[in-house]
Amino acid sequence: MRLIVPSPAKVNLSLWVKGKRPDGYHELITVMHTINLCDTLFFLPSDRFELTIEGSESLPLNKSNLIVKAAQVFKEATGIKPQVKVKLEKVIPVGAGLGGGSSNAAATLKGLNSIYGNPLSQEELTQLAAQLGSDVPFFIKGGLAIAYGRGEKLKHYPPASFKLLLVYPGFPCSTKEVYEKMPPLKREITVDEAEKRIISPLITGKLKELEEAMENDLERSRAECVERVKEVKEVLKSCGLKPLMSGSGSSVFALITDENCDLTPLKIRRWWYKLLNAI
Ligand code: C5P
Repeated sequence: MRLIVPSPAKVNLSLWVKGKRPDGYHELITVMHTINLCDTLFFLPSDRFELTIEGSESLPLNKSNLIVKAAQVFKEATGIKPQVKVKLEKVIPVGAGLGGGSSNAAATLKGLNSIYGNPLSQEELTQLAAQLGSDVPFFIKGGLAIAYGRGEKLKHYPPASFKLLLVYPGFPCSTKEVYEKMPPLKREITVDEAEKRIISPLITGKLKELEEAMENDLERSRAECVERVKEVKEVLKSCGLKPLMSGSGSSVFALITDENCDLTPLKIRRWWYKLLNAI
């Protein structure tokens, strides 16, 4: 028994906050797409559940790790005690709004389900994923989707094709803090409207129209790290791009609609950046 499961990052092509809910979460509508920046999970034989991580020193190996939590909810749902060694090769920056931890949790559920003969359907896996975090259900299928509710309700679309520049400026943002420091906001937007504004131009390849429509309400947060993200955006604008913060930050991305952007200002600042594709 050996299994390799890729665990891709995502970007939010838009995110609108509809208001704060009684349970403390925010009601939102967001459009997400997976991208070809991937962690990898290796499932190897073992006589117990073990986790090792390569490529990040900061992540915990204990019960607070989403991979360990995913193994636990899998066990509770199926009665199967996972006996595997999971080796995580970390590539996706942490605290970057790229969904790395959520993606790892979804990849763990999918990997364990496959190893133990698929006791859970894709729908059951998606429901289980919601216990682990608002973004985790999206990563069970990945591709292109509108997520709503607190992010756990999904409407999927066929994956689109676009190139993007992704910049991680080297500092993380805390999702919790970014949401906590949001000014009160009550957007009236619906899933149908998000489809019109974002999905339609995306699937018809009208990237300029898409760029104009893209917005992220979390950029209004008064969290300090979001203030710092604004500087990153300014630099990308000076390269002729239309940047947007991904999710709760700190990474920033821009669609590449022509190949002529000058990335020298990013090189000078020694920021981590990559040219990537939607997958
Ligand atoms: O669901 P997840 O554990 O990823 O969320 C992390 C934190 O982000 C939550 O504790 C909450 O403070 C905030 N959040 C929110 N509204 C959402 C999603 C997350 O307020 N829809």
